[in-house]
Amino acid sequence: ETVDWDPEQAGKGGYDHFMLKEINEQPTSLAQAVEGRIDPENGRITLEDLGPGTFAGIETVQLVACGTSYHAALYGSIALNRAGIRTTAVLANEYSISAPPVDDGTLVIAVTQSGETADTLSALRQAKLEGARTLTVTNVVGSTAARVATDALFIRAGPEIGVAATKTFSSQAIMLVLLARRIAADTQSDPPENGEALLAELAGMPDRTEDVLATSDAERIARRYHDSRSYFFIGRGLGFPVALEGALKFKEITYEHAEGFASGELKHGPLALVTPETPVFAVFTGEEDEKTLKNASEAQTRGAPVVAVCPAGHEALEIADGHLEIPETNSTLAGLFANVQLQLVSYHAASLLDRPIDKPRNLAKSVTVE
Ligand code: G6P
Repeated sequence: ETVDWDPEQAGKGGYDHFMLKEINEQPTSLAQAVEGRIDPENGRITLEDLGPGTFAGIETVQLVACGTSYHAALYGSIALNRAGIRTTAVLANEYSISAPPVDDGTLVIAVTQSGETADTLSALRQAKLEGARTLTVTNVVGSTAARVATDALFIRAGPEIGVAATKTFSSQAIMLVLLARRIAADTQSDPPENGEALLAELAGMPDRTEDVLATSDAERIARRYHDSRSYFFIGRGLGFPVALEGALKFKEITYEHAEGFASGELKHGPLALVTPETPVFAVFTGEEDEKTLKNASEAQTRGAPVVAVCPAGHEALEIADGHLEIPETNSTLAGLFANVQLQLVSYHAASLLDRPIDKPRNLAKSVTVE
């Protein structure tokens, strides 16, 4: 007697889809991202050969990326700006015609999971040619980006098979948060306060992500709302790139219309689309939450159900129609827990709608043409 052995099924490690497996791998991928790189005891960050002094002379940073990596880049740009480093995130496919000027005080960071995205490589090459210093934050050792950029920082997320990026987003964001502190240490006489607290939170992130995964109500929320007309995602600060990523994930795998907005923008146009058939997922990161709550309430007044992505006991729960819980944490990391919940909502909605989750129509894991 023989047993059927399907290598693809085996690779999914018991999960129905690679995407769900990869979402659930985040406790491990996050632990790998910071392993040997952070020392919460003394607030020290060690990024292999990017040792002290590497970033001396850097005055501005430009992040270039596409798709999900661009959302991680936006997340990183906020962290870098908050660390006092002048930073812009530019869509790599816009870089050739709208790049801000560069010189030898500019560090251009290509954020790319595969290290093979043509748009991103082209921006990286252009920046190098124009005299910028270059670095890539990538998942693939030996990728083109790693060879073209002067320096490379690997996110160590392990292979990602699902076309929709999941675990690599959180690792990219974390690497950029660490880079922000390293660059600040090299370029500022008075760098921001030691981040012992942040590093301790980072060290605890894998366990807390495990809790989020184990207790998530995302399937029930997806069941309740998966036959809506449109899906809106809002957030401010670091919650804004998370809202954009939540919407991108949702449209990629459910084929339903989804959009992400900065919370405050909802009233400047998108509110015209809000009806009882447009659930609004509101991300609360602990910064100006009362403003996001006000924006969410405005949508609710027009009939839209509001799903609050926030810690237990949060004031948003007084009005929310649904809750996706995240732990109480540093506002620099809160959005990454929220993102895990939104990944799960997309996954379950796509599953209920019977979509081919790992290989959405018309999309490729790595787009090697411009
Ligand atoms: C493709 C994928 C996206 C990905 C983007 C950037 O469009 O479908 O999931 O975010 O490329 O890929 P990269 O490998 O550069 O991160």
